[in-house]
Amino acid sequence: MNAMTTQPVKLGQAIPRVDGKAKVTGAAKYAADYALPSLHFAVIVHTTVAKGKLTSLETAAARKAAGVVAVLDAGNIAEAKFAGNRQPFRKAGDDVDYIGQPIAVVVAQTFEQARFAASLVKADYERQQAVTSMLDPAAATLDANARGGPNRGNPESALSSAAVKLSGTYETPIQTHHPMELGATVAVWNGDKLTIYDGTQAVLGSRKRVADAFGLPTADVTIVSPYIGGGFGARLLTWPHTYLAAAAARMIGKPVKLVLTRQQMSYAFGHRPASRQELTLGATSDGKLSVISQNTLSSTGVKDDFVEPVTGHTLVLYDHQHSGMQAKAARLNIGAPAPMRAPGAPLGLFALEVAMDELAEQLKIDPVELRLMNDTAVDPRNKKPYTDRNFAECLKRGAAKIGWADRAATPKQKRAGDWLIGYGVGCCAWHGGNTQATARVRVLRDGSAVVASAAQDMGTGTYTVMAQAVAEVLCLPMDKVSAEIGVSTLPPAPTAGGSRHCSSVVPAAHQAATAAKKKLLELAMKHEKSPLAGLAADQLQFNNGTISSGTKSITLGDLVALTGEANIEVTEEYKPDGKPGFVGMNFGAHFCQVAVHAFTGETRVKKFASVFDCGRIFNLHTAANQLSGGVVWGIGMALTEAAHLDSSGRYAAADFSGYHIPSHADIPNIDVEMINKPDKNFGALGSRGGVGELAISGVAAAISNAVYNATGKRVREVPITPDKLI
Ligand code: MOS
Repeated sequence: MNAMTTQPVKLGQAIPRVDGKAKVTGAAKYAADYALPSLHFAVIVHTTVAKGKLTSLETAAARKAAGVVAVLDAGNIAEAKFAGNRQPFRKAGDDVDYIGQPIAVVVAQTFEQARFAASLVKADYERQQAVTSMLDPAAATLDANARGGPNRGNPESALSSAAVKLSGTYETPIQTHHPMELGATVAVWNGDKLTIYDGTQAVLGSRKRVADAFGLPTADVTIVSPYIGGGFGARLLTWPHTYLAAAAARMIGKPVKLVLTRQQMSYAFGHRPASRQELTLGATSDGKLSVISQNTLSSTGVKDDFVEPVTGHTLVLYDHQHSGMQAKAARLNIGAPAPMRAPGAPLGLFALEVAMDELAEQLKIDPVELRLMNDTAVDPRNKKPYTDRNFAECLKRGAAKIGWADRAATPKQKRAGDWLIGYGVGCCAWHGGNTQATARVRVLRDGSAVVASAAQDMGTGTYTVMAQAVAEVLCLPMDKVSAEIGVSTLPPAPTAGGSRHCSSVVPAAHQAATAAKKKLLELAMKHEKSPLAGLAADQLQFNNGTISSGTKSITLGDLVALTGEANIEVTEEYKPDGKPGFVGMNFGAHFCQVAVHAFTGETRVKKFASVFDCGRIFNLHTAANQLSGGVVWGIGMALTEAAHLDSSGRYAAADFSGYHIPSHADIPNIDVEMINKPDKNFGALGSRGGVGELAISGVAAAISNAVYNATGKRVREVPITPDKLI
């Protein structure tokens, strides 16, 4: 044995982000940081009325302004050989559907010149009354029942015969993604080849969309997105500024940078639709659920197909026989909605989990007990077994953590000075996922290894966990392994979405590292100059960058050098390897203690504890960060976040001065625990994914339920602002 044995790296360990230092020192380059030679600056001019007609567009003054080199609009976009089937600009005579539709792009030598010239573009409109409320009779509706979830059994007759019934209307507002990093693109052409520096959750998806927009083969477009300042789903899509930066760069023959303003991010960078849900539960008098029905209305844009899947996770938590699900969307004069962290689930589960609390109250059963009584090992929608489910354990451990035994069964019993104290529980679910992914592993002459894949890291930890997988397999320390991701020319990987990125690219990295290990072993055993030549595989050990047998050893780097090549290289494609016939679902339970001020109605979250079941965790540190981040967002959803539209289609707050997300002072210590049990039915490595999205759901319900326990006021609408409590 080598005396220099170091602690081997293992998947599962809490290893800090390998890109952390680059980020905190400013070395990490985000899209807008690419300062290319002769870079020009573009600013989007967009519609400022939500409904009506653009009657005239005057760009002459902008064209004459200092530093301006081009103004793009519908009249000249063709010069950029923009082949997209959707004209990116509204032109005079066109209808206007929402605030934020591009009408022109001004390009100048400096950002300030572009911004000033953009202010000189004059647009006139014929205004019409915008539709800004889902309940406005003028709102066109979209039937989304096909996406509403299954109707099983006979919900009507089950309800009429149910001993206990509970019905409520639950409402959630529009929310905006607002990642820290603004929407930003730097575009540069080299002949007919295009390179785009962007922040995207989908380098390959974006490459395809941009290539299509300019009628180019995908190989002629390269997307570079090594670091992303938050995505949350908005960056799954490619927004107009990316195409427009590329069009502008082509038009002027120079690189162009286009960065959206925070206000533009509010209007046209996606949002989570509002919802209004009628939820009904039917149960036996001893608390067995028999029926769940949910009738949802959510918002979408005038021409969008996107319908928030509000009912998507309502039926997976509790055993029941009958379900009646309906989904409709109302068309508003707003920008396109987009997937946002666990699409649908935080909305649908807010309704379900508050309703469960109400049902528990009605039945005089403890809310944790009611949930345990309705536990199920099979997915109620199709009776297929879950790959694994430790939901009851999440509930029990979480209850112990928060001190559930201290909760008074009836509301308004606990007080600390002027603060009313209450406890609440709310649960979450998010589907498991993994998908095809490719990774390349190279082992270099210096003994280091590089894993490469067209994967993305939104700050979630992709760099770290991919390197960690390779370090484990090749028995290398973390500082000898690096990951190269975020570029569309690398081996194909899926989008970073649906919380299935890590559970796809880590198995791919693991598989590629295993193939590289095999290659190294064969070299060691067979190369004539190897000191280990002639030995059998079971006589050899990998340890800290060497392969050895007794006193004989060779470093991985020297082994590579024996080949005469710069490196040994393998590329492997991972394909989902779960067992058929199961449903993979992630679960969790949130518990909190809140204090509500008796006179002002201010709510403070004092304690938070959550327990999650996502199968095996690949990195306890980055996973805990993701899960507690989901809780933070859930606290924002519960107490402060809402994008209110006024009757003109304008947001009351289109920036952080009025769109309130939690600050540090709003967030207590969040005690996150993971069951961390490998789920071999879901995949050989045992991860079910889900970590990025699972945690946000159920938080707002836990807080609303705690507010009820504190005050006796049942709040079925978030955010729970003080006006709802006094
Ligand atoms: Mo997630 S909404 O799939 O980025």
